[in-house]
Amino acid sequence: MDGVRKTFDEWAQNGKAESMETEHGKNVLKFLKTVSFDNPFTFLDVGCGNGWVIRKIAKEESCKKSIGIDKSKKMIMQSQKKIESQKEEFFHTDIESMDYKGKFDYIFSMESLYYADSIEVALNRIYKLLKPGGQFFCGTDFYSDNKATTRWRDIMKIQMHLHSKKEWKGFFHKAGFYVKTKQVKDTTNTKKWKREMGTLFIIGTKPEK
Ligand SMILES: C[S@@+](CC[C@H](N)C(=O)[O-])C[C@H]1O[C@@H](n2cnc3c(N)ncnc32)[C@H](O)[C@@H]1O
Repeated sequence: MDGVRKTFDEWAQNGKAESMETEHGKNVLKFLKTVSFDNPFTFLDVGCGNGWVIRKIAKEESCKKSIGIDKSKKMIMQSQKKIESQKEEFFHTDIESMDYKGKFDYIFSMESLYYADSIEVALNRIYKLLKPGGQFFCGTDFYSDNKATTRWRDIMKIQMHLHSKKEWKGFFHKAGFYVKTKQVKDTTNTKKWKREMGTLFIIGTKPEK
C-alpha cells in the first residue's frame, strides 16, 4: 500500500479527519462564499477526507449532485457514515484512475492535489471531468511561498510535491485552463502564516471552446 493511502487511512481512524475539517474549514468556507452557486450544478471533491465539503455543498438548493472521492478507503467509509442527503455520493478511488461517465460544473480539492503521484496527470484527468466553462478550485496551504508550511514534508514523511504559486499557475496553464489565484487569509488566527500568507486557491476555468 502506498504511503499516502496508509497515512490517511490512519488519520480517518484517529480523529485527524475531523481536525482537518476544523483546521481547513474557515478559509474554505470563506472561499466558497465567493462562488455563486445560483444555477443548477454538479460538484466533485477530490480527496474529500471525511466528506465535510460534500455535505456543505449538498445543502445548496441548486446542487444536483455532490460527489466525494478519496484514495483512502477508510476516509470514504467515514464519509459514507455521515451522509445527510441523497445528493451525496462517495467513491473510493484516486483521481488519476477515476472512471466516471458524467462531467462536472465544479471540481474542488483542499490540501489533496500535491499528494498525487503526478500533479500533471491528476490535472489532466480533472480537466477531462469538467464541462466546458466548468471550474476547478484547488486549495493549498502547502506552497513554497508560504515558508512556514514547507517543513510539513519532513514531518509527514510521505510524498508531497512542493511548488510555488507561479509553478501551480504553470501546471494549470499546461493542462489547458484559464488561471486565476486567490490567497484567503485568516487575519485573527494565532498562526502567523495564516494571517500573512493564508490558503492559496488556484482557480482553473475550462474554456467554453
Ligand atoms: C490533507 S487530506 C485533506 C482532506 C479534505 N480535503 C479536508 O480538507 O479535510 C488529503 C486527502 O486527499 C486524499 N488523497 C491524496 N491523494 C489523492 C489522490 N491522488 N486521489 C484522491 N484522493 C487523494 C488523501 O487520502 C486524504 O484523505
